[in-house]
Formats: sequence, structure tokens, C-alpha cells
Amino acid sequence: MMTPSFNHQAVEWTNELWVEMESYWNNLGEDHELNLIKWMHRFSNEMIFIISSGSKNNSVASYYHTLIPENYNKLNDKEKEKIKESEDFIHSLETLLRGAVYFYFFNRFMRHYVPFIRGKANSLLKNRDYLYDKIYNIIKKRRIEIENTPLDQPLRHDMLTSYITANTSRDINIVRHGETDPDLLRPMTDKEIFGNILDAMGGGTDTTANLFCFVVYYLGRYPEVKRKLQQELDIVLGKDLKRPITYKDIDELQYCDAVIKEVYRHFPVAFSLGRVNVEKDIVGGFNWPEETSFLILYSAIMRRKDYWTDPEKFDPDRFYKIDESDKYLLEKINVKNSFSIFGGGIRICPGRKLAMIELKCLLASIYRKYDLVMVDENAPLNYDSGFINVCKELMIKVKPRKF
Ligand code: HEM
Repeated sequence: MMTPSFNHQAVEWTNELWVEMESYWNNLGEDHELNLIKWMHRFSNEMIFIISSGSKNNSVASYYHTLIPENYNKLNDKEKEKIKESEDFIHSLETLLRGAVYFYFFNRFMRHYVPFIRGKANSLLKNRDYLYDKIYNIIKKRRIEIENTPLDQPLRHDMLTSYITANTSRDINIVRHGETDPDLLRPMTDKEIFGNILDAMGGGTDTTANLFCFVVYYLGRYPEVKRKLQQELDIVLGKDLKRPITYKDIDELQYCDAVIKEVYRHFPVAFSLGRVNVEKDIVGGFNWPEETSFLILYSAIMRRKDYWTDPEKFDPDRFYKIDESDKYLLEKINVKNSFSIFGGGIRICPGRKLAMIELKCLLASIYRKYDLVMVDENAPLNYDSGFINVCKELMIKVKPRKF
């Protein structure tokens, strides 16, 4: 997911899916009130679905059809069933992610014996079984497709195909890593593949969707920042509004990058990160034994007065055109490691490149042509905090941009 060819592919997919979503938004009309988080869940899920499984799940199209009853009623039973399947998949992934917090806060005893908690836990487990079954079926189906493809016929590239073919006669990689460890030279089991696909879908859907909504909210609140962003889009992308966005454009959209980072600093999706120390250590002047669980509260670190200049101010310029290596010298960020969007170290987010491509490409595609206007411009951000900060609802209208 970090290779240049993957990045280029991700830009192409984002462009394609945007063109599709744009046509639905245009059909709904500029006075239609959209709940942006619902669209974004489907957008980010459809992206990660195609990347991880190689096939489309049409969740954006399905959602659109559910919004227009007169069109939906004209569909045949098979088409309706497909829409239901796609919507069920999205809901069950959402329920799985939101529900995880139950298993964190309520112990086994409470989940078994306290009536309300037991009912909730059981319905969450039922939902989990449904989702796991769906993902296992995708893996099984692809295994059969690969088995039925003659050896001289190339296979399409996607995560799932790579996992299934790794260390088999169909493996396209000739470099063998870790040859001394036989466990790394065997093919992957369905369970291992399942874990990786679930991680990608779980990690890549809610995070990107919520951050996108938070950025749209802040752009609505700070019109001068939106103007500056649109100026950058005009300079980098030019006048042809139909020209697909390229990877080079995305690289050049430095203000857009800064806006995303500043929104994150103000309103992080993953507001805390967990770590366990492998050896005893002194942290904050206290002695801690090994294997202590730490929660690093980044939402507080990213607003500390001694780490940041004017931390309460929403100011994307603090991240604009700053060379990563000497940003601390510029006195805009005073302390190293006081900003985190994707974590760090060995567990750093593997989807970080993809997420930034998706966010920047979609923001650029939308704001170069449209304005996303909040239905209630004075309403506070409607959000919920569990494991992460999630947008509960963001009602917007899509208006043509005034040049
Ligand atoms: C704006 C979007 C995203 C944000 C804010 C985000 C944030 C994070 C953070 C903070 C972590 C924990 C890192 C650490 O502990 O050091 C993480 C881990 C992870 N992310 Fe993301 N992420 C995003 C998008 C994605 C995408 C698109 C994928 C799809 C592949 C993804 C997959 C994962 C996975 C699998 C992990 C666990 C890594 C591990 O534990 O080794 N994330 N992410």
C-alpha cells in the first residue's frame, strides 16, 4: 500500500468514484439536504473494499437508490436484494466498530448476567458473525476463481489475490523475505487473510469518513481558509474542471495537506493511542513497571500551550510548506512528537498514504467545482466519542461554486 503504483491506482479509483458520486449528487439537486457522513462511510468503504478484495461493493450507488423511493420501487427483486446486501454490510461494519467499546468496558460477567448489557452484547456478537461470514465468503469465492484461472493467464492485482497467491506457484514476487523462518514461506490460511482484510476495512472506513466530515465542517466555519484552499486548487488544477486529478497534483496541494492536519490537530479522529512498555521506565516523573498500559491522550498534547504557538487558534498555516525535518525550528510546533495523525513506530497506520490520497483527491474534486454549505451554519459539530471521535450527522447542500 505504500508503493508508487498503488498510489497512482488509488488516485484513479478516487477520481472514478467521485465522478459516480457527483452524478448522484447532481441528480438529487442543489437543494437536497445530504447527510455527508452517510455518503462518506460508503465512499471510503467502497474504496477500501475494491483495494482489499478487488471487487466493487457498489455501496455509494446502493445508498443513492435508497434515497429515491420512486426509483427504488421500480427495481426488480434481485436489484433490491443487492442494495439490501450492500447496506447491511455497511451497517454491520459500523456496528462492529462502534460496538467494540462494549467489550472493552464491560467484563465477561456483566455481559452474561446484566440484562441490558447481555442483550446488547448478544446482538453485537450476532452482527459480528454476519460480517465475518461475509468476509470469509469473499475469500473463498476468490480462492475458487484463482484455482479456475489457467496458470498462463495473469491474475488481477489486489490485496486479496496477493494474500491468496503468496508463497504459491502463482506468486508474482520473486524476492523471498525471511527465508530462515519457514513460517514465512508457507501460504496464508483463510483465517490469516481474513484478519488482514478485516483490519483494512475496519481501519480504513470510519477514520477517513469522519476526518473528511470534520474538514468540511471546519471549512464551513472558516470561509477565509476555504477561499485560500480554493485558490490553491485553481492554481494547481487549472481551469479545466473535468480534468482528472493526478498524483502529481495531490503532491502539490500543500495547503490542502495543511488544512487536513490542522483540522486533525483541533479535532482528532483517533484522540488517544495505546502503548504497553516492554521494560520498566520513568514517565512523567513516576516509575512504571514493565507491561503497564498507557493511553497517550493526543487530543490534549496537540493543544498544549508549551508545545504549540497559539494552540486554540485554527491556523492551517502552521503546517503550510514546512519541511518535516526542520518544522520544530520554525517555532510553530515547539516539541517533537507533539503531533500525531497516523501514530508512529512499528504500529504506524499502514493506510496513511491511501487516506491522504483519498482525502486530498476528494476535497480537491469537490471544492474546485462546488461549495458544501451546511444546512445549519451555526450548529455545533454533532459528534460522539467512543474509541474514536465520530461524526453523528452533518447535513449539507451541494451548491455550484461561485467564481
Ligand atoms: C484519516 C484516516 C486514518 C486515520 C486518522 C488513521 C489513524 C490510525 C492510527 C492513529 C492508528 C494507530 C497507530 C499507532 O498505534 O501508532 C492506525 C492504525 C491502523 N490503521 Fe489507520 N488511519 C486512517 C486510515 C486508514 C486506512 C485507509 C487504512 C486501510 C488500510 C488503515 C488501516 C489501519 C490498520 C490496519 C492499523 C493497525 C496497524 C497496526 O496495529 O499495526 N487506516 N490508524
